[in-house]
Amino acid sequence: MIRRLLTLGRGVVTGMPEDAEQRDPLQLFGDWFADAENSGLLLPEAMTLATATDKGKPSARMVLMKDYDEDGFVFYTNYSSRKAAELEANPYAALLFHWSELQRQVRIEGPVSRVAEEESREYFESRHLGSRIGAWASRQSEVLPERVELEQRVRDYEQKFSSDVPLPSFWGGYRLKPETIEFWQGRVSRLHDRVCFERSDRGWKAFRMYP
Ligand SMILES: Cc1cc2nc3c(=O)[nH]c(=O)nc-3n(C[C@H](O)[C@H](O)[C@H](O)COP(=O)(O)O)c2cc1C
Repeated sequence: MIRRLLTLGRGVVTGMPEDAEQRDPLQLFGDWFADAENSGLLLPEAMTLATATDKGKPSARMVLMKDYDEDGFVFYTNYSSRKAAELEANPYAALLFHWSELQRQVRIEGPVSRVAEEESREYFESRHLGSRIGAWASRQSEVLPERVELEQRVRDYEQKFSSDVPLPSFWGGYRLKPETIEFWQGRVSRLHDRVCFERSDRGWKAFRMYP
């Protein structure tokens, strides 16, 4: 009942735009992301990143989107992590945003490549000191025998670098270039809207799908 009241039968906010298929998908994403930010949701930039090994064995985890434009969606991580190993072996991935209060989901798929080192450095230098030290201290995805070992590594790097923390060679960004983007807007009676965009040589092709 509350959900029905919230959505007024159209979905929260303005629902799926009438002209969605005519829109540029990156601009539409921008509108939806702004709605998510303006709704006061915690971490609207949090997204699921799904990768797979070269044998097709999948894995998924959350990451934070730090940038997006026509060229792609950017997140930062440890280049020695499990996700990075999977991306190096099989450079395709899927991203998923779910803004549950808005009854919205966005699915994005495409090839992934590392961002330029200079771009990673610029972002790294914008991070808090603790996060920069943490990047050095964490051997992400490796077995940690005891937490005290991580805490000791933090102290060691704090001593080593004091305030001038350089970009680790094993840390940086990836950019997923979207080949497909699907916008899902929840509506009553499970008659949800799904509008998909596929990139072709002649730009984006849009179509609707049954919910
Ligand atoms: C909300 C949220 C945001 C996260 N953001 C990141 C991120 O931006 N980069 C990252 O490397 N890990 C992030 N993590 C941790 C990852 O989910 C994951 O535990 C870690 O990257 C190791 O994954 P892997 O072993 O599959 O490589 C985040 C976790 C949560 C719950």
